[in-house]
Amino acid sequence: MKPATIIGSAALFLAAIQLVPYGKNHTNPPITGEPAWDAPQTRELFFKTCRDCHSNETLWPWYSHIAPLSWLTQLDVSLGRAKFNVSEWGREGKNEGEDAAGEVREGTMPPWFYLPAHPEAKLTDADASALADGLEATFGEKKHKE
Ligand code: HEC
Repeated sequence: MKPATIIGSAALFLAAIQLVPYGKNHTNPPITGEPAWDAPQTRELFFKTCRDCHSNETLWPWYSHIAPLSWLTQLDVSLGRAKFNVSEWGREGKNEGEDAAGEVREGTMPPWFYLPAHPEAKLTDADASALADGLEATFGEKKHKE
């Protein structure tokens, strides 16, 4: 294949996948309940670094409009909200708040791939530890079986 054919096919492919509807609906669902935060600072830190995937107040970035990034963003937001959503506190089913402090202490949340595109969500060590303590005070903590 000539380079021009390869580039042309890639462009066609990228144009075609923009037509897939998945990941296009960025209407945030209504807020039906918030947890009783232990302190305003906990909520503030949480909103700084976790809100996009664990609340209904997602700020959708520009790349969330472009496939295939839109698909990955949608998947993260859907899976994240399903497990733990501070905008639907008290909903039926499971809201895994008691895992939240542990996730921050272990550094598994926010996910590593989120931070390069969201430098504003990077917490200092002091803020991360304040957030973890606040999450524990708000939601309790489940001990992890390692
Ligand atoms: C880029 C999106 C994203 C961000 C930002 C994010 N999370 Fe998550 N989070 C997820 C996804 C996706 C899952 C579901 C993962 C799974 O099922 O393995 C999840 C799962 C969780 C869970 C449920 C327990 C588990 O491991 O399944 C908790 C608690 C959690 N996140 C807390 C946090 C906290 C606290 C922050 C901020 C410090 C945060 N997350 C930031 C995407 C995100």
